[in-house]
Amino acid sequence: MNLDKKLIDSLNGELKRQQNHIELIASENYVSEAVLIANGSIFTNKYCEGYPGKRYYGGCNFIDEVEQLGIETAKEIFEAEHVNIQPHSGSQANAAAYKAFLKPGDKVLAMGLKAGGHLSHGFSLNSSGEIYNFEFYGVSDKDYYIDYNEIKEKALSFMPKMIIAGASAYSREIDFKKFREIADQVGAYLMVDMAHIAGLVAAKEHQNPCLVADVVTTTTHKTLRGARGGMILCKKEYAKKVDSAVFPGIQGGPLENLIAGKTQALLEAKDISFKEYAKQVIKNAKTLAKVLIDNNFFVLTNGTDNHLINFDVKSTFNLTGKQAESILESIGIICNKELLPFDQESSVNTSGLRVGTAAMTTRGFKEEEFIKVGNIIVKALKKSVDIEILKKEVNELCLKFPIYENIRY
Ligand SMILES: Cc1ncc(COP(=O)(O)O)c(C=O)c1O
Repeated sequence: MNLDKKLIDSLNGELKRQQNHIELIASENYVSEAVLIANGSIFTNKYCEGYPGKRYYGGCNFIDEVEQLGIETAKEIFEAEHVNIQPHSGSQANAAAYKAFLKPGDKVLAMGLKAGGHLSHGFSLNSSGEIYNFEFYGVSDKDYYIDYNEIKEKALSFMPKMIIAGASAYSREIDFKKFREIADQVGAYLMVDMAHIAGLVAAKEHQNPCLVADVVTTTTHKTLRGARGGMILCKKEYAKKVDSAVFPGIQGGPLENLIAGKTQALLEAKDISFKEYAKQVIKNAKTLAKVLIDNNFFVLTNGTDNHLINFDVKSTFNLTGKQAESILESIGIICNKELLPFDQESSVNTSGLRVGTAAMTTRGFKEEEFIKVGNIIVKALKKSVDIEILKKEVNELCLKFPIYENIRY
């Protein structure tokens, strides 16, 4: 049976879109063709509830080899004592981590959504917010950095059973040791969600939370550049409860084709070229932030330490994030609107944009290209140059850095 014609059309449309746009969504990346092969492999067919060597189905010897290789590689890269590579997504990894360490109604202190936290960190419409009792910390209203004193004060008065560090939209290095100290002062577990920065941690370009946290969750598809999915890393003493929280706690059969895609990406992350990529991701983000700041954009925290930048378009251009996102999309730059800390706009409109450099760094962009990208963004949002000219500039950059040239549907 061949691929259906409608599917082929959509696949070719998406392939072209990815090739012809500048991708600045901070949570996206371009995986290797090897990861794509693993994702679409014959492991798709196999049911294998359980864990390597302890399955509820026969015929799992090759599946076991792959899953074990992924586990061992992740343990080595992140210096973790135990790894569960089965969560279907970052949200599933978080749900399983909560289930392993908490009972319904237990208190958790996490970063608020507007400050840069994630829905699965206690948002009222997410199951985390329904099941557990969340309180939130924010960022300083002076410099938009995490205020560790505020967190300590909140922890001392709220006395949570768990503190969560980690964010979806925070551009500065997070001091996990400080979080550990605060957690120890109130007898709380420390969970770190390193979804965004996992690739930087793997390359040792960011503090490694696995050295201090009780449990670390992550996605595998952002800066880590692997198959879509999640992973949990923890101390050995928590291995059993983490594994049983994932299966049978919240999931059934693991998606072994995606586990193969995660494993391939983890093996790629051991290569020296991945270290160079991660270093370049950060250099590129600093370069892009500087162009924006030099053009009087209000960049939160006045810069970045990682792969992402949050900036305000409302105060600078009187545009909502939604309007700015759509202006940039019209010239071929894809990013996302972002609620900023203390935002007066709704989550549909927002005052800000979030951009990231991981995907275009994978494509080969260096500082020179990110200076160009920054200037295109400035001209587009200031509406100072004709849109057709900017479209052409974007197109030229994309053609110069092709991606997936061997793929045909
Ligand atoms: C910090 C953080 N945790 C968890 C997630 C959830 O990941 P997923 O979309 O795979 O459920 C995200 C996704 O953006 C995230 O940024």
